[in-house]
Amino acid sequence: MCGIFGCVLKEGKAAPLIHAALKKLEYRGYDSVGEATLFNGVMYIKKDQGKIDEVHRELNLDDMEGSIGIGHTRWATHGAPYKVNAHPHTDCANRIAVVHNGIVENFLEIRKELEALGHEFRSKTDTEVIPHLIEENMKKGMNLIEAVHETLKTIRGSYAIAVLSVFEPNTIICARNESPLIIGVSEEGTYCASDIPAFLPLTNKAVILENGEIAIIKSDKYEIWTIEDWKPVKREPEVIKWTAEMAEKQGYPHFMIKEIYEQPRCLRDTLRLQDLYLDLMATFLDRAGEVFLVAAGTSYHACLAASYMFSDLAFLATHPVISSEFIEQEGMAVNINSTILAVSQSGETTDTLAAVDYARNRAATILGLTNVVGSSLTRVSRVYIVQQSGPEIGVAATKTFTSQLSVLAQLALRVAKIRGKIGHRQIEELEEKIRQMPDIVEKTIKKNDPVAREVAKEFRDKQVFFFLGRGISSATAQEARLKLMEIAYVPSIAYPAGESKHGPISLIEPGFPVVFICPKDETRKTIIGNIMEMKARGATIISVIEEGDEEIKSLSDKYFEVAGSLPEMLTPIAFITPLQLLAYYMAVEKGLNPDKPRNLAKSVTVK
Ligand code: G6P
Repeated sequence: MCGIFGCVLKEGKAAPLIHAALKKLEYRGYDSVGEATLFNGVMYIKKDQGKIDEVHRELNLDDMEGSIGIGHTRWATHGAPYKVNAHPHTDCANRIAVVHNGIVENFLEIRKELEALGHEFRSKTDTEVIPHLIEENMKKGMNLIEAVHETLKTIRGSYAIAVLSVFEPNTIICARNESPLIIGVSEEGTYCASDIPAFLPLTNKAVILENGEIAIIKSDKYEIWTIEDWKPVKREPEVIKWTAEMAEKQGYPHFMIKEIYEQPRCLRDTLRLQDLYLDLMATFLDRAGEVFLVAAGTSYHACLAASYMFSDLAFLATHPVISSEFIEQEGMAVNINSTILAVSQSGETTDTLAAVDYARNRAATILGLTNVVGSSLTRVSRVYIVQQSGPEIGVAATKTFTSQLSVLAQLALRVAKIRGKIGHRQIEELEEKIRQMPDIVEKTIKKNDPVAREVAKEFRDKQVFFFLGRGISSATAQEARLKLMEIAYVPSIAYPAGESKHGPISLIEPGFPVVFICPKDETRKTIIGNIMEMKARGATIISVIEEGDEEIKSLSDKYFEVAGSLPEMLTPIAFITPLQLLAYYMAVEKGLNPDKPRNLAKSVTVK
């Protein structure tokens, strides 16, 4: 996730407005920043790695001539956060500049073709193919707008882009596919931005660009066209009533709920990972003597779920270990044949890095899964994958958890393929379901939001909750418990359902809320038995079920329905979402701030 901004003014300097707008978009990414402006037919560019304020101190971002320009604040997806990878990116002749938010899936092939035609690339980004492709199209005789249009037909993936060029010095061309882009309209000029807060101080009149649309903006007008068949689109501006604070959260009251709702988009982005890295990592895992999955907090729960995936799909035994325990628990067993797959959203959790460091010293192979390119974990990993969730502001991990699960499921499937452990049909079915996950999660969140509100109201004064699941759902239960505990301060318990008889069942008395995670998988029959045990002792049953599971519905006092039927290994991705909502609404009901739970930090950098 990155933030982009463009502005075409009737008069005055664009640079200070771009700088101010990028500050408003900083929540979308903050590892590098850059601006381009045009003045008297010359393109000026300033960019560098670092936070906006740091770069501004060095370069003075306001001191650029021209009343037209574009800007970008970056959250690296391809290429580490170095100056050369910062946007804007340009063509060979520096006459076309582009800022981009999204992922160009087919950039490697396009880059190869363009390099063969003599184009010189300066960065490691996927974005840089865009200005070069526009340049190449112009060489074939197209004008700038035609060349941008043709380029958009060639690239695959997600994008919001803004293009600035000396060839059309009074125009910005922007376009959108799956990454947000909004046009702002005022008396002084026209703007385009990833998000409304960027231009809210300038205007509250906004035109929301839809997927597959291109817009041509000038200081006094805008035109919208469809990319596919170049049909004009008539769309009047809407008046936005949000305050600046509301706008930053896109109208949601907290970042946590905004991030819960972002999960379908994040899951879509996990489907755009480069095959190269997935295959490479799968090969390392396949060849490992033993595999340790090392992580803390929510990332550990992703590892717990992954251990079921690797075993079930690839017949690969893995050891999920809490990173702060790793050295004591497994230390002496680590050797040159060991592979450590460290999972850390931030890539900076001290305990995880300490475990990795220890294992490296014993010559183990380090693999990393993280959300932050350039983080410490990426620097020590032999291979790393970036989970593409974009920055997560809420302290409680939500979207980063489901993205990790999606990546880990894809990895398990790759290892399964290498090992020839599951049949062709099953692989295809799983791949198809992984593709469907964003839609299933989207429907599940929408459907369960009102239910979670209602359950939270009814259960807000409960002192304790019990979460139970079997198989991979026991990992979902652990994560659901963590969410409720850390956000709503309800000291909850989670167990594999079979283990509940060995102690925790003694807690049950009439009205005790027990949450069962019940996908329609192999464990379902047994879990029904566990529900009956709890009911017999007067527990109140709240279940998360597959849509239309009438039997478990009839045993439940409350239920959340997941919108779709899923193979067992993918269930945590959808089944956790109603319970994220429950934790969120419990916190809200209790008057707590879910974004900032007391005593917790987003990234724990102490032992
Ligand atoms: C903290 C955060 C959690 C996170 C954990 C691990 O406890 O509050 O949300 O799951 O650290 O962080 P990591 O960045 O390593 O995934």
